[in-house]
Amino acid sequence: AEPEGAGKALAGKRVVITAGPTREPIDPVRYISNHSSGKMGYALAAAAREAGAEVVLVSGPVVLDAPAGVERRFVTTARDMLEASGHAVDEGCDLFIATAAVADYRPDSCAGDKIKKTSDAMNVALVRNPDTLATIAARKDAPFTVGFAAETRDVEHYALDKMSRKKLDMIVANDVSVPGLGFNSEDNAVTVFWAGGRENIGPDTKARLSRRLIALIADQLTNKEA
Ligand code: CTP
Ligand code: CA
Repeated sequence: AEPEGAGKALAGKRVVITAGPTREPIDPVRYISNHSSGKMGYALAAAAREAGAEVVLVSGPVVLDAPAGVERRFVTTARDMLEASGHAVDEGCDLFIATAAVADYRPDSCAGDKIKKTSDAMNVALVRNPDTLATIAARKDAPFTVGFAAETRDVEHYALDKMSRKKLDMIVANDVSVPGLGFNSEDNAVTVFWAGGRENIGPDTKARLSRRLIALIADQLTNKEA
């Protein structure tokens, strides 16, 4: 019998994908977070599964069902995401795709009780969160790494800068200043960059765009392994 998914672009590959926002607690009832529906990461997880991969989806809080055949692990904070992603990569990972909208900073402490409205102004001291994608990419046994860069200006410049700083194999840039695309929307348009080239994909549904993106990533992964 043929192994499951034999002949498909990601047959036999283990893929870990981060998705959704993180939440950083201020007190028991409040948090800091980012805009993110998780749809792009979930669509990519579905497309990677369709392409024959075994997929672990490390997901922040979202209201989506896990795609069929995908193992989802929920996390809350950026630190949880780092830990869960590290474990998932330890279990074996050929390809790591970070789509999560991680909170860059967290409150330096979480109040034990609900903060009461006693003054006219309030300050929350923030400290920097760990970078899951950069941490995974810096491992000696790093998988093929793909990052996302959501930018509102100088998209190409910032995307290429992120790819080199975080030592990524590919980066998917999207201009979130375009109305109707990106955050919380059904459609998206991206430009993918890698050392040897670039490709524009979309505007298209996140499902179709994800299939093309997975095909492109699978090609580059195969090239690198060859
Ligand atoms: N990322 C991550 N962990 C973080 C921050 C970002 O894994 N703490 C990942 C995102 O999932 C994305 C990529 O890094 O794939 C780029 O995220 P982005 O927020 O655009 O980059 P930053 O390095 O945080 O830079 P800035 O927000 O200042 O533009
Ligand atoms: Ca960020």
